[in-house]
Amino acid sequence: MSIPLDIFGRPMDRDERIRVGFIGCGGHAFRNVYPVLRFTPTRLVATCDFDAQRAEAFAKTFGAERHYTSHLEMLEREDLDAVLIVTNYDSYGEPSHVRLAMDCMEAGCHAYTEKPPSSSSEEIRRAMEVSERTGKFTLVGFKKCFFTANEKAHEISRYEEFGGITSISVRYPQGIPAQEQKGSLKENPALISFLDHLCHPASILNYFCGPVRTLFYRRNSCGGGFAMLEFASGAIGSLHFTAGQSGTSLLERLEVVGLGANVVVENGIKLTYYRPGGRGPGGYGGSPSFIGDDAGAPLYWEPEFSLGQLYNKGLFMLGYYGEVAHFVDCVKQDRPPEKCGLRDALEITKLYEAFLQPEGRVIELSWLERPDHHNHRGF
Ligand SMILES: NC(=O)c1ccc[n+]([C@@H]2O[C@H](COP(=O)([O-])OP(=O)(O)OC[C@H]3O[C@@H](n4cnc5c(N)ncnc54)[C@H](O)[C@@H]3O)[C@@H](O)[C@H]2O)c1
Repeated sequence: MSIPLDIFGRPMDRDERIRVGFIGCGGHAFRNVYPVLRFTPTRLVATCDFDAQRAEAFAKTFGAERHYTSHLEMLEREDLDAVLIVTNYDSYGEPSHVRLAMDCMEAGCHAYTEKPPSSSSEEIRRAMEVSERTGKFTLVGFKKCFFTANEKAHEISRYEEFGGITSISVRYPQGIPAQEQKGSLKENPALISFLDHLCHPASILNYFCGPVRTLFYRRNSCGGGFAMLEFASGAIGSLHFTAGQSGTSLLERLEVVGLGANVVVENGIKLTYYRPGGRGPGGYGGSPSFIGDDAGAPLYWEPEFSLGQLYNKGLFMLGYYGEVAHFVDCVKQDRPPEKCGLRDALEITKLYEAFLQPEGRVIELSWLERPDHHNHRGF
């Protein structure tokens, strides 16, 4: 059994770790999820992958006690508090994450899953019912909601002086598939890519502004485009799909506007808070200086890359630590997550389903709430 260490790497006197199993031993898990476990109070009991060699190699590398090729066998044999799921699309081309999470909750374990949770709001609703019945929860690793800079921007957007969110814009280098590419996921790589990546900007929009009420979008010949969104909160948003941009470009820009204040996050790390304030005295035409009072000056944060601090690791800055740490905290306290729970997954999946409708008209997301609604594949 591995020895418990605290976040400084010091051996702990008492073992207060939760017991976790891990389904999926692939590239993303290797780079970004197993490595954060050592910074959290978790004891990795078992790994699982269809590929026995991978399951064994990951167990040995990351200090698990046993390994499996069937998650059902792992759930039956092991006494686990929680399971982390970082798998992928199944042989039908559908994301397996929420389905596996349901199996884990049925077996008495809380679940963390990677995105995309599902391609179907109906499936997420079923998972919500399982969660309700079993008293176990699922957190989806929408990492953008745990970016250090995004979390701070979110906090700022809740300040009284910010005045409430009136509008939001997000840029993201994803393409919107053409209508003829929106059949089955298995046969349409462009649709898989869209489902895979829409999660990122959609989770930011949901984190800041809550559920989307209506969507209008247009795409160009390379799949780039714009979406205009109305939120149930009354805020208005835009999502700029920058497919066609250079491979050397930054990917993301987020701007959240309040009333007399706004906050910008560029490239996921540079945060500028334009506090309520104004420029030099004298009024329009008569001000010799562009600089105003210090009390209203913009606040700017960016990382330094000199010190070997935890905060300088991509694992921390890009939210991988934050999402797992929040999950583990919730498991320890037996309380549902504050963000990125199944309700959020439902809203994000509803937005994906709305994009399956043809472009150029206002799409009401509330129609997706109708009990007789079936998604495009008929379940
Ligand atoms: N958040 C991010 O930054 C980010 C980045 C990259 C990938 N991802 C996501 O991570 C997921 C995994 O991506 P990847 O590139 O590591 O995929 P991968 O194919 O390399 O790894 C998936 C692994 O899961 C195993 N697996 C699948 N279903 C299983 C099951 N039911 N039981 C046991 N093992 C099973 C496969 O055998 C494989 O080894 C994807 O959903 C992807 O969208 C997220």
